[in-house]
This record gives sequence, C-alpha cells and structure tokens, in this order.
Amino acid sequence: MTDLAHKNLLARPTLQYLRKPNPDALSEAKRNEILADPGFGKHFTDHMVDICWSVQGGWHRPRVQPYGPISLDPAAAVLHYAQEIFEGMKAYRHADGSIWTFRPEANAERMQRSARRMALPELPTEYFIESLKELIAYDGAWVPSAPDTSLYLRPFMFAKEAFLGVRPANKVNYYVIASPAGAYFSGGLAPVKIWLSTEYARAGKGGTGAAKTGGNYASSLVAQAEAYEQGCDQVLFLDSAEDRYLEELGGMNVVLVKKNGTLITPMSDSILEGITRDSILQLAEDRGHAVERRRVSIDEWREGAASGDIVEAFACGTAAVVAPIGLLKAADFTIEHTQTSVSLSLREELTGIQYGKVADRHGWMTRLDAE
Ligand SMILES: Cc1ncc(COP(=O)(O)O)c(C=O)c1O
Repeated sequence: MTDLAHKNLLARPTLQYLRKPNPDALSEAKRNEILADPGFGKHFTDHMVDICWSVQGGWHRPRVQPYGPISLDPAAAVLHYAQEIFEGMKAYRHADGSIWTFRPEANAERMQRSARRMALPELPTEYFIESLKELIAYDGAWVPSAPDTSLYLRPFMFAKEAFLGVRPANKVNYYVIASPAGAYFSGGLAPVKIWLSTEYARAGKGGTGAAKTGGNYASSLVAQAEAYEQGCDQVLFLDSAEDRYLEELGGMNVVLVKKNGTLITPMSDSILEGITRDSILQLAEDRGHAVERRRVSIDEWREGAASGDIVEAFACGTAAVVAPIGLLKAADFTIEHTQTSVSLSLREELTGIQYGKVADRHGWMTRLDAE
C-alpha cells in the first residue's frame, strides 16, 4: 500500500452510488410495531451502504442495497487478524419531521484516526457524511419520533481480502447499517452501578485503546461479564502500567464532579476520545464550570468521595448519552454518590440540542434528509 493511496491524497472523485431499493422492505405497520419498542441494537433497517476500497482503485463501487448477510471468503483477513474499525452515532427526528445527526465530522475524523492505527484506508469526511445521507434517503422512515428515541448509525470497515499472512489488507469494505434505538440501560435514567476491574486491562501504552476497533471490545468482555456477576451495569478499567489511574468504561467515558463545580476527566493515549464527553465538557465550560483533563487515580476519587470533595460521577457516550454513576464497586471497597444534578442537567441540554429543542450555538448538527 503506497502512502499516497493510503492517505487518499489523490484527486478525489465524486462517488456515483448504485441504488438498489429493497423489494422486501418491511411494511409500514411492521416497522411501526418495531419503532414503538425498539430496544437497542436488536432490529435493523431495510438497507445498508457498502463501499469498496483497494490499493489500486481507492474508494469505489458505492452502493445502497438491501440489508442482508455479507459474503466473506473464509480466509478474509478480518476473521483472522481483526483488522476492523467502527463508529457509533445517532440520527434524531426533530419536531418538524426533519432528520439530523450530531457532529458527524468528529466521527469521521475519529474513524480516520482509528484507520491510521489499524493500517486501514482513511475514508474522507465528505464520503463519510454522504454515506449517512444515502442511507437516510432510503431508511429515513426508520428514525423514530418518540422522546429519547433515535436511529443508531453504525459505520464500519474491515479487511475483506482473502489471505493468510500478517500485513495490512489490500482490499477493504466500508458499510453503514442502522438500528432504531430506545434507552441503552434498562433502568432509564436511574444511576448506574459500575464494577472496577483490577484483574483485566482494556488497553496498554502504544496499544489500540484510542482506536474504535473490535479487539478492544473483545478484550473487555470477560471483565464486563464479571461486572454483571457483581450486579453492575458496566466495567471501569484502570491503566495497565500502574493499575491506579482511571481509564474508561467498556463503552463510555467517565467524568467526576467536585463540590466546587469542577469537572475532572481522565486523559491518556489509551482512552477512546468520546464525542459526547467532549461536547458535555464544552457545555459545562460554557456554563462556567472549570474542566480538568488529566490523569486521575482511583485513590483520588475514593478520598474525594469520602471527604465530600467529589460529589457526583457520570458515564457518557453516544448510546446512553449521560448516565449518573450511583455506585462504584471494587473487590474491597465501594464509592457511592447520590447527587445527579450536574449530569442530568448537562444531559438535558445536550439532548435538547440533538432533538432541536435548544439552540445549536456550536453548529454541531447536520441535516441528513433532503430539505
Ligand atoms: C470505549 C468507549 N469509550 C468511550 C465511548 C464514548 O464515545 P462517544 O461519546 O463518541 O460515543 C465509547 C462509545 O462510543 C466507547 O466505546
């Protein structure tokens, strides 16, 4: 793979989509039945986007086609070497029926960073956003309108080339699928319980922690299973070198709130940079909160909670938006918080922007359906 082809620095042609509507798309009645109680990640829309990439051809053969199985050679590199990345974002229906998404450039750029780390080709931002619009042109009716519901969008890319041998694949495919979404945690806005994993690490120095790649999630699953056994909703990982500093949850970032209103969030090069966290912290700064992005140890949290200096904690990510943390459970101690006011008020403002009820003063929203 030449550097030039990899970085897409060649002149960029407009993609000419081949559009194949699904002849077996669900009836309106069946779709509405699903939208009335979508759950999370259980149902999928009628179409998907598929774009091919090869070293010689760059991005080519873009299609919108019926949602369905992908045919893979058993030697496809992704099945053996996990060369794969993905994104997660949402489409929101506004009161006037229009369909919007939140900061798609940030997702596109994060996918480009993930691609660089995983030796995959970078999909240009305009192709990324266009792919979402193409899918919504067919599946816009799948964006629910009940409060707090959305259509979860899942762009992903993987090594499709059939070969056994450890090197970056020369053939890759990018897809977008979509799934109508209700609440992520079954308890709704009730504070969540978090299990502190001390046996397993999510990521290490120089590893892939900052990339959104399937392997990070595969390696979190035993710790997540442990969390469920402990009666918790999610797992919190510590850094792998010293086993002291907060990293993140299996699928969300974490933020602590001090009595004086300061927000603290862990920073390290092995944490996935969440777009929800970045946005929440921006809104908090707009309100006058100080924000500290730095290393933060589990002892600092524990001692701060005991002294009354740390009064609240929350998890944040696209799927659940903001979830107050009521309990952190470790093998030999617990931390409890009852305050949820800062997290719930920031959540209210962020979702207000996403659903078009609060002014979008940062220009975060992009319309996906045709005006
Ligand atoms: C490991 C991990 N950390 C953090 C996040 C939060 O990122 P975002 O706010 O962009 O959804 C996610 C979810 O997407 C995640 O999977």
